[in-house]
Amino acid sequence: MATKEFPLEPRTVELIETKYRKITTQIPVPKSIPALRKLRELEPRSMGGQPPILWHSGNDFTVSDPYGNTWLDFSAGVLVTSVGHGRSEVVRAIQAMAGQGMYHSYCFPTEVRVKLIEELTSWLPEPLKRVFLLTTGSEATECCIKLARTKGMNVGGGAKNIIVTFENAFHGRTMGAQLAGGSAGLKSWLPDDPTFVQVPFPDGFRQKDVSFDVFKKTLAEKGVEADRVAGVMSETYQGCNATLMPAEYARQLRRWCDEHNAVLIFDEVQAGFGRTGKPFGFMHYGIVPDLAACGKGISGGMPVSAVLGTDELMSMYGPGEMTSTHSANPICSAAALANLKIIREEKLVDNAAKLEPILQAGAERIQKASNGKIGHFAGTGLVVALQFTKPGTTQPDPDPAWEMVQKSVQRGVMLFAPVGVGGCAIKINPPLTITREALEEGLAVLEQIAKEL
Ligand SMILES: Cc1ncc(COP(=O)(O)O)c(C=O)c1O
Repeated sequence: MATKEFPLEPRTVELIETKYRKITTQIPVPKSIPALRKLRELEPRSMGGQPPILWHSGNDFTVSDPYGNTWLDFSAGVLVTSVGHGRSEVVRAIQAMAGQGMYHSYCFPTEVRVKLIEELTSWLPEPLKRVFLLTTGSEATECCIKLARTKGMNVGGGAKNIIVTFENAFHGRTMGAQLAGGSAGLKSWLPDDPTFVQVPFPDGFRQKDVSFDVFKKTLAEKGVEADRVAGVMSETYQGCNATLMPAEYARQLRRWCDEHNAVLIFDEVQAGFGRTGKPFGFMHYGIVPDLAACGKGISGGMPVSAVLGTDELMSMYGPGEMTSTHSANPICSAAALANLKIIREEKLVDNAAKLEPILQAGAERIQKASNGKIGHFAGTGLVVALQFTKPGTTQPDPDPAWEMVQKSVQRGVMLFAPVGVGGCAIKINPPLTITREALEEGLAVLEQIAKEL
């Protein structure tokens, strides 16, 4: 989570011109300062915190400002533009739908909605069968919570209403999503709700014991009776540290949910549609959840999210009882359809898996170069999180992380601000279209910066 601002004073930086990066001005660009200042004056402060660059245009895995500078995009927005920026297929799909004169249809059926739902269901493993289209990831995770609690209360009466989630988890910023989140600081504005309970996430770094016993022991310590649990929700990999849970843990969790008639939910908002080198992150575990919340890479950039679910869970509410005004917006749906077609036809899930060893090796070199400042890194497919920690501890050390982002942007590699515990983690997650050559170029830039920190 960004907790500070990058300075707006222009710095003279090294001029750069490579195949993918071009920096020809001071950074931030002096001409951009009035616009950047205006945002700082007129928006909530919470909208700040990202590198002070005006994004203007995009071309596959690069983004450019209006002043002739171009960055190799290691952010993919924030894990969104999976097929890259400015893809002509996506642009044409958006233009065609707008040209047809159809940019809103509420819940009235459209052909494009049929096509998108058909496409999405073709990605689903049994017993997931139905898809509910929404707009944001938070809406999708909240819908999963609602469905799990509804089922719990249907089968177990009012007392089966507990949702178990994980420490340090992130499920969005709306009220239910934040109650489910695992960072105390983000929900200090909310009353304590005893029906949301967190357990440690088995990341192997801050939580060394990764056995499933910890899950059961924590619930017992917190006085939670297993049969009162309506649902368990976890990010498939935790966004803040890019760590999957051990497959054995996930399998035991699946069994535990079955034994206690609890709904298993994976939050695939970051992981879904190829980021981890598999279509869905849960496929690394060899299990299937009852519900999955998706967003980000599902559309490649337009506001689309989805809940994927079983027949049973998706049939609890009757016609008109679970809707959203912008569900299946025709223009967004057309873009999502084009995005998913590109992921399939260009085998981008395989590209993420193929480039995983390159990204992992690069992260290892960056860690080595950091002289102990990067205490831990983890990742899968085309996502890695580098955690800056006080030497020999798991205590976050955000300052060098911020310095690395700032220098990286000055050298033509776009990163978003540090995230995670104490704001100490840098994420590397380029579009899934990135080539080995471009990935290696950006990683070499970060390795050089790590040496200088
Ligand atoms: C794992 C996860 N779940 C949910 C969300 C919330 O998505 P949105 O910002 O679209 O509401 C995010 C956003 O970063 C996320 O990373």
